[in-house]
Amino acid sequence: MDHFLYRAGALHAEDVPVAEIAAAVGTPVYIYSAATLERHFRLFDEALGDLPHLVCFAAKAAGNVAILKLLGDLGAGADVVSLGEYLKARAAGIPGERIVFSGVGKTREEMCHALAGGIRQFNLESEPEMRALSEVAAEMGVEAPVTIRVNPDVDAKTHAKIATGKSENKFGIPLAKARAAYAEAASLPGLRIVGIDVHIGSQLTDLAPFEAAFAKVAELTEALRADGHDIVRLDLGGGLGIPYERSNSAPPLPVEYGQMVRRTLGHLGCEIEIEPGRLIAGNAGLLVSEVIYLKEGEGRDFLILDAAMNDLIRPAMYDAWHDIVPVTEPPAGTETQPYDIVGPVCESGDTFARARPMPPVKPGELVAFRSAGAYGAVMASEYNGRPLVPEVLVRGDQFAVIRRRPSYEEMISRDTLPSWL
Ligand code: LLP
Repeated sequence: MDHFLYRAGALHAEDVPVAEIAAAVGTPVYIYSAATLERHFRLFDEALGDLPHLVCFAAKAAGNVAILKLLGDLGAGADVVSLGEYLKARAAGIPGERIVFSGVGKTREEMCHALAGGIRQFNLESEPEMRALSEVAAEMGVEAPVTIRVNPDVDAKTHAKIATGKSENKFGIPLAKARAAYAEAASLPGLRIVGIDVHIGSQLTDLAPFEAAFAKVAELTEALRADGHDIVRLDLGGGLGIPYERSNSAPPLPVEYGQMVRRTLGHLGCEIEIEPGRLIAGNAGLLVSEVIYLKEGEGRDFLILDAAMNDLIRPAMYDAWHDIVPVTEPPAGTETQPYDIVGPVCESGDTFARARPMPPVKPGELVAFRSAGAYGAVMASEYNGRPLVPEVLVRGDQFAVIRRRPSYEEMISRDTLPSWL
């Protein structure tokens, strides 16, 4: 569910007409709904209800400090994967004790900053990383709370580029090596084992792979406890999918996910951490774009937009589907016609949709990409010399620019000339 609905024929973000924001800020522009972000956070929080738990929003999905602050103020923690995300979470007022640090390549510098600034735990992904953290923490004279991310070798049944839980993926330590890895971690100075971490992939539309992975985590918890480790937290990662194509998909709801977590892990008495990104932010954001040209091709018509693959890369990168709707509601019964919907970037991959049935749309009109709140703005680039797309947050009848569009001067001024040129 989201808060982007047509009212009196005009698409609204909560109580604000989308066209009003586009007129004020220009296009392309990302627009987020505070009510939707809040609602989705609460769904997870309530789904885990009586279990001791912490919902750590995966900052990689939508890392704007305003979004992190909104969620942090509701009690969310953050899952970060770089010093940049750590600092953004801190700038948003999220305390270190609610921040978990994930990722396969944490540098010593990042470890040092997080240890100095405060951190709930590091999710370790390899033995070399474990040894590096031990050295950094010991040198600083502190103890780093750690989990080890295990790779349960389950098929998440999602797009290959975002599946992470198979043995061929770079993530985590194989289950077969987990007991040895925990034994080593326990023997190293500067580390304090607090739990187990697992994350098998993103945009999962079925609970079965989660359940298979969590059953393995439950077994491992018992085995590690028998080995004498103090396993008090289980970090289950993120991954629950959203209905990108509203007409034909209905992934499981957070409440069903919560029941499954309770069923598989509830008896262990552990604190549960989850790291949802997409389900909190995905349907809380639109990308709004203006149609520049309608070009009649051979056997197809192209809608050429002012948004491009540099602004929203998901279709080019994962063949992802985003619903694309006109900002002015077409009258009931309007016939659709197929369009190839493309951006101005100079490669054929800059295609958002092929033969997409759309009501007739004219140059100058606005369209909105739905479900663009997660992995949208954060993955944007300046490819083709296009300044980074701005972001706007709506709450009720007010909106605010939460990242402005850089000027061309700003973009160019970051390049510097060597003295010999
Ligand atoms: N935790 C870890 C360790 C992760 O690697 C991820 C996502 C998450 C949590 C959040 O997963 P979510 O709840 O959002 O599924 N750019 C891709 C998605 C990449 C996901 C990477 N990891 C896309 O646009 O589909």
